[in-house]
Amino acid sequence: MEHEQKNIQLNSRGQLCHFLSLNGLDRKILTEILDTADSFIKVGERSVKSVPLLRGRTVTNLFFEPSTRTRTTFELAAKRLSADVLSLDISTSATSKGESLLDTLRNLEAMGSELFVVRHADSGAAHFIAEQVTPNVAVVNAGDGRHSHPTQAMLDMLTIRRHAGAFENLKVAIVGDILHSRVARSQITALNILGADEVRVIAPGTLLPSNLDAFDVKIYNQMSEGLKDVDVVIMLRLQRERMKGALIPSEREFYQTYGLTPQTLSYAKPNAIVMHPGPINRGVEIASSVADGPQSLILNQVSYGIAVRMAILSMCASGQTQSTGSQG
Ligand code: NCD
Repeated sequence: MEHEQKNIQLNSRGQLCHFLSLNGLDRKILTEILDTADSFIKVGERSVKSVPLLRGRTVTNLFFEPSTRTRTTFELAAKRLSADVLSLDISTSATSKGESLLDTLRNLEAMGSELFVVRHADSGAAHFIAEQVTPNVAVVNAGDGRHSHPTQAMLDMLTIRRHAGAFENLKVAIVGDILHSRVARSQITALNILGADEVRVIAPGTLLPSNLDAFDVKIYNQMSEGLKDVDVVIMLRLQRERMKGALIPSEREFYQTYGLTPQTLSYAKPNAIVMHPGPINRGVEIASSVADGPQSLILNQVSYGIAVRMAILSMCASGQTQSTGSQG
């Protein structure tokens, strides 16, 4: 299934040159991303947190959808690689004056931008842009519609590897609004590629996508069964802005059935780690005492996001230069 078509994310030497989705990538590449990110975490612990890998190169953040964590951590990642960084809030710029996306892109390329980080409400947007950019320009997907959010999934994998250990020993449960979540889709794919022992989703039927059979997951409708023996609990936000109609009776009832509280967390292994991609909704999917508690790694995820994005940006930049044989 994964190799149906030519994977434009890999150059002729099999190196990463765009990062659009986890489909078609193998365990070796994902492990290389995690190992590279580990080395950038060490850089982040120094007083001087930058390295010259992208000196003189320009990274442009193209965000067609609002974002705080993802945009700012991409910005910091690019700055720590010593790149020049442009951040465009597209909703308030050229395209609202009638300029087409491709014309905006061509102008940014003319300014010398070689890496684009794209977030868009439409599934497939980053892939479309990657097909349009000139050779040697890399595109990184920062979230497209409900489709995929591969850098978030990789920072989640880094968090898991650093705090819960080897994937093959781990049972992981993803809880909540799976239907609207690009994060859940990318996490499931990443966990399967990395060989997790078991991937579970826990949600009411109304918040499960109909095509889940295409993913290697076990489905649960109850926290007591779904969280039993799990090592990692990943909570998701109810994505109200994407919901058409009432998919849950009320937030209160959702919290009572699917909220992560000290009581529901006790169904998981005693040392299970708790994660959430953010933004968290306290008292809707997670209790404050759990979000701020000793098992929570929610803020570690944010810090690791910088290292993972540094790894992906630098690998894509190098993959683009290597494919033409020129020096980077
Ligand atoms: C997620 C997203 O935008 O898909 N957040 C993020 O990137 N940290 C999840 C969400 O919005 O709930």
